[in-house]
Amino acid sequence: MPTSTPIRPGRVSPLRTVPDRITRPPYVGLDEPPAPRLPDVKDAETIDKMRIAGRLAAQALRAAGDAAVPGVTTDHLDRVGHEFLLDHGAYPSTLGYRGFPKSLCASVNEVVCHGIPDDRPLQDGDIVKIDITAFINGVHGDNCATFIVGEAEPQVTELVERTKQAMLRGIKAAMPGRQVNIIGRVIESYARRFGYGVVRDYTGHGIGDAFHSGLVIPHYDAAPLYTDVIEPGMTFTVEPMLNLGTPEWDLWDDGWTAVTKDRQWSAQFENTILITESGPEILTQP
Ligand code: MF3
Ligand code: CO
Ligand code: CO
Repeated sequence: MPTSTPIRPGRVSPLRTVPDRITRPPYVGLDEPPAPRLPDVKDAETIDKMRIAGRLAAQALRAAGDAAVPGVTTDHLDRVGHEFLLDHGAYPSTLGYRGFPKSLCASVNEVVCHGIPDDRPLQDGDIVKIDITAFINGVHGDNCATFIVGEAEPQVTELVERTKQAMLRGIKAAMPGRQVNIIGRVIESYARRFGYGVVRDYTGHGIGDAFHSGLVIPHYDAAPLYTDVIEPGMTFTVEPMLNLGTPEWDLWDDGWTAVTKDRQWSAQFENTILITESGPEILTQP
């Protein structure tokens, strides 16, 4: 397994500001988000808005990912993502979501997800999962990718490539008429070939006017549970986390940062997808 010093909580910079011209999602300032107003199957007008949010989220992810080089802090990545979204008229959905303090999640090495950007400089050989969500025109687009900082060990590079492949295979399986549990079945069977741990407690989710609609998309084989039928017009995320070791995790005292129990490394990719009559379409494309 890659040898590196464990990730420790760093210093978190003061809250970034958002100009008044940027519309905030309804949950900002609340402990809990209000219930979604739209169903999981979206109308054409909402879908058009989600294409725009999805594209912006993908462009913001690319901008932040391009900045992920040795010596740069995850706080800097947060600044890049924050400014990119504001410059394009969008709000960074994570900022103030259930109290999350930053504009993206930056999860390094053994951090599974929801890492809070801080003053730790990225090191050659690290991986960083950047998860950024755009809110514009009343809807969200959510995506994540794992970026390799400098050059990683072969075992790590393989994990990253296979996690992307697992996500794409899960997306491909999302055909109308099937139950949502097909997605995790496909992801888990692929991940098992390599002996990877498949994280169960963080899932994909319905998305639209709500960041998380209540529809749950497991990344493991959850049958006979999770029987929602995939229908044209549905919008949801597929965002598997695959681990070199155990799928179990610990939560830091910050209440957000999840790290693998065995401190082996974890990779993640996420797209927001739309189900069409002919199959899935990725909305989070630049
Ligand atoms: N973007 C994450 C997801 O894929 C959610 C982050 S919520 C936060 O669902 F509060 F941690 F930012
Ligand atoms: Co996300
Ligand atoms: Co998501």
